[in-house]
Amino acid sequence: MVIAIDGPAGAGKSTVARGVARALGFTYLDSGAMYRSLALAALRAGAGLDDDETLGALAREVEIQLDHGRVELDGNDVSAAIREPEVSAASSRVSVHPQVRAAIVARQRELVARGEYVAEGRDIGTVVSPDAPLKVFLTASDAERARRRAADTGESIDVVRVAQAERDARDTGRELGALRPADDAIALDTTGLGIEEVIARVVALARERGIGRA
Ligand code: DC
Repeated sequence: MVIAIDGPAGAGKSTVARGVARALGFTYLDSGAMYRSLALAALRAGAGLDDDETLGALAREVEIQLDHGRVELDGNDVSAAIREPEVSAASSRVSVHPQVRAAIVARQRELVARGEYVAEGRDIGTVVSPDAPLKVFLTASDAERARRRAADTGESIDVVRVAQAERDARDTGRELGALRPADDAIALDTTGLGIEEVIARVVALARERGIGRA
């Protein structure tokens, strides 16, 4: 069973999804870490980031393990490497390809079928788990999202804003699994809200629906 938390980069999805998972005793799934791991594998292999065939084959082959915030690619810890700005940009490029999406969505569906998950990404509520009993679409203003990301990565806000706009355009404009709220998603604007408040709101929504332990 899945609680879906979708939204653009910097909306607070990871922190919120992690907090909600902890509160409800669910497992946290960072779906973006899978696209990031594939992007890193592609960069390391020198694969073309616009080559659907090659990237699709790579997506079917590579071993990606997510374990309590640690990410492993073919047995090596890549938790830090996948957060590099170059990998962020590459991840939104590799994730437009149909064969890549098919392979990664299949892995995600397999994972979530086996437990209780709070899964965050772009297409959890629309594609990966359209039957999720609770879907939240998190947003925040462009300025606030850039501020948060810059604080995380140490880059300047201006640099982050340019990369963020490019990534938003690719994530919303692609044909498959585009970033958009599911028809039955609850929209939550986190601008100016404390993260604990957002977590509490989502947990309350879950409880209203009878989800999670009492
Ligand atoms: O959530 P994130 O910033 O770590 O995601 C990195 C990229 O991966 C994002 O720009 C687009 C892609 N992605 C995706 O296409 N679908 C998802 N469910 C999650 C991420």
